[in-house]
Amino acid sequence: MNVIRVKDYESLSLEAAKIVGELLKTKPKSHLGLATGSSPIGLYQNLIKMFKNNEISFKHVKTYNLDEYCGLPKEHKESYYSFMHRNLFDHVDISEKNIHLPSSEGKNLEKNCKTYNRLLHKANIDLQVLGIGSNGHIGFNEPGTSFEQETFIVKLTEKTRQDNKRFFNSIEEVPAYSITMGIKNIMQAKQILMLISGASKQSAVKQLLSGNISEDFPASVLHKHENVTIIIDDAAYGDL
Ligand code: F6R
Repeated sequence: MNVIRVKDYESLSLEAAKIVGELLKTKPKSHLGLATGSSPIGLYQNLIKMFKNNEISFKHVKTYNLDEYCGLPKEHKESYYSFMHRNLFDHVDISEKNIHLPSSEGKNLEKNCKTYNRLLHKANIDLQVLGIGSNGHIGFNEPGTSFEQETFIVKLTEKTRQDNKRFFNSIEEVPAYSITMGIKNIMQAKQILMLISGASKQSAVKQLLSGNISEDFPASVLHKHENVTIIIDDAAYGDL
């Protein structure tokens, strides 16, 4: 596990963009696993800048997102489909057919899980971007999820719903369920890049860096992966 400590969110975003940008330069047909949330927004902004400077292109890139809320139409501004278009896809030359997110539409969500899982089995993701929940979740794999879990429908914990309330008008509006890649899917990426910023992540950082591996703290599974880079800013590091 390669840990890079940086002073703030801006440096974290630049450092992350260097890694992803380098990959896209050396392998223009890369397959990227992407995350939503606050952590990768700065990375996406830097990738957009690099695209506008003709340093990188998304023309041949395929993307696979970690998760999507259930019960929000795709067009809702807080759906992860909308988030990704607003924060990255609408500003680069990616082709809509190369964008993949799990679908929470329709009545048969179990079928949607199987469809996305089949896609992931063929995806060969070169680099997976991850954030971390304050409870250690990755994707929406909440504490207690088996490391063998593949794409599934998860009931979000109250902690996660409270953490995500900032994007909605009230807690009632925060979806209770999500469709997410499982931990096993995430671990199949060739390289993992985790971004951790802000004081609210201090206890998660402490637990992650302690090296203990337990299903009670999903992110700890990353200790079993051979190519992980974690970028952590000073605020998230705290007094460690
Ligand atoms: C997002 C995702 C989540 C977030 C995590 C951290 O697609 O799967 O695991 O990465 O909740 O969220 P932020 O970055 O908002 O602190």
